[in-house]
Amino acid sequence: MILGSVNDSDIVEKRIPISPDTIKKYIASGFSVQVEKDFGKNSNIQDVELQNLGAKVLNKEEIYKTSDILIKINCPSDSEISLMKEGSVLIGSFFPHLNKDKINKLLKKNIKIFSLELLPRITRAQSMDILSSQANLAGYKAVIDSVYEFNRAVPMMMTAAGTITPAKFFIIGAGVAGLQAIATAKRLGGVVSATDVRSASKEQVESLGGKFVFVESAKNLETSGGYAKELDEDDKKKQEELLKTTIKTQDIIICTALIPGKKAPRIVSEEMVKSMKSGSVICDLAVEQGGNSAFSEPGKVNVVNGVKIIGYKNFPGRISESASTLFAKNILNFLEIIYDKVEKKLKIDENDEIVKAVYVNKEVV
Ligand code: NAI
Repeated sequence: MILGSVNDSDIVEKRIPISPDTIKKYIASGFSVQVEKDFGKNSNIQDVELQNLGAKVLNKEEIYKTSDILIKINCPSDSEISLMKEGSVLIGSFFPHLNKDKINKLLKKNIKIFSLELLPRITRAQSMDILSSQANLAGYKAVIDSVYEFNRAVPMMMTAAGTITPAKFFIIGAGVAGLQAIATAKRLGGVVSATDVRSASKEQVESLGGKFVFVESAKNLETSGGYAKELDEDDKKKQEELLKTTIKTQDIIICTALIPGKKAPRIVSEEMVKSMKSGSVICDLAVEQGGNSAFSEPGKVNVVNGVKIIGYKNFPGRISESASTLFAKNILNFLEIIYDKVEKKLKIDENDEIVKAVYVNKEVV
C-alpha cells in the first residue's frame, strides 16, 4: 500500500505530517512511502535523510495520482483533488464545515476522509489528538514570540545597578494552549495569572503556580465534552469589570479563549488595550477565529498607544519542526486503528467511537 504526502502550498503552513521517525515505522509495517521534493525543508529535514530511510521523493502530481493513503495537514485544493486517486484514503485536519465544496468533491471520488480535529477528547484518543499536540506548542510559541516583542527582561533581576521587576503575564483561556503558556511564562520567571469560564481550570492554573482570576458569582460554563459555553450578557458584564482592573496592570497578555464551532469571544476591549502601559504586548492566538482582543488582525503586529498586538497566523507552524514531529506521530497512532498490520490492509470499524467521530462520509450541507 502506498502512503504519500505533499507540502501545503499555503506559505503560512510549514508543518509536514510525516516525520523521519514515522517513515521508519510505516516502512516496517509494510507501507511504501513517497513524499514531495523538498518536503521537509521548512522543518530542517533534507530529502536525502528521508530517502535514506526508504522514502521515495517524487513530484506532487505523481504523489496525488498514485497514493492509496494521502496524509495532509490541510484540505487539498480543487486542482489537487482532481489529481487524487479514486477510492483512496485522506487523513489530516480538514474542517469540513469550512471546506464544504472540497469535502463534497472528495466524497464524489469515493475518497475516505478522516479529519482528526474531530476526535473526541477521550483518554484513548489522546495519542492521536492533533488539537492538543498543536495547541500545546502554540501556547509555548505565543509566550516566546511575545517575549521577543517585549522590550524588558521577564525575570526579576537584583543587580548592583538596581532591581528589575518581573514581567506580569495574564493568560485568557486555560485550556491546552493556555496551560502551556502559563508553564512557559513561569519557567521564564514571569508572575502569572489566568482566567477561564470553566471553574475546573482553577486547580490546573494553580498547580502550575498561576493565580486564578474568576468571577466568583458566575456560572460554571463547562459542557459535558469539557469545552466552554458562551457567557450570557450578565456574566459577560461581570467578566468585563473584573478584567478591566486586571488587564491595566499586566505586561503581557496571551489570549487563547475559544468556543467550538463559534466565533471566538471578544474579551479584551479597545478601552482595555488603551489602559495598558506603553511597551506591553498582547498575543492573540484566537485571531483566526475572530480574535479575543481589539486591534488584533490575522498575520499582523499592530501597535496602539505603544501596546503591540500580535496576530500571527498558525502558531504551531511557527515552530514547525516540533509541530511536525508531534502531528506525524498523532497520524501514525490513528492509522494504527484503521490498518491491520497482519493482513496489511485497511480495516475501518465504523462502530469504533474514534473512527465514527473523524470519518467524514456524508455530504456536508
Ligand atoms: P479550546 O481551545 O476550545 O478553548 C480554550 C480555552 O478557552 C478553554 O479552556 C475554554 O474554557 C476557554 N474559554 C472559552 N471562552 C472563554 C471566555 N469567555 N473567557 C475565558 N476563557 C474562555 O479548549 P481546549 O484547549 O481544546 O480544551 C478543551 C477541554 O478539553 C479542556 O477542558 C481540556 O482539559 C480538555 N481536554 C481533554 C483531553 C482528553 O481528555 N483527552 C485532551 C485535551 C483537552
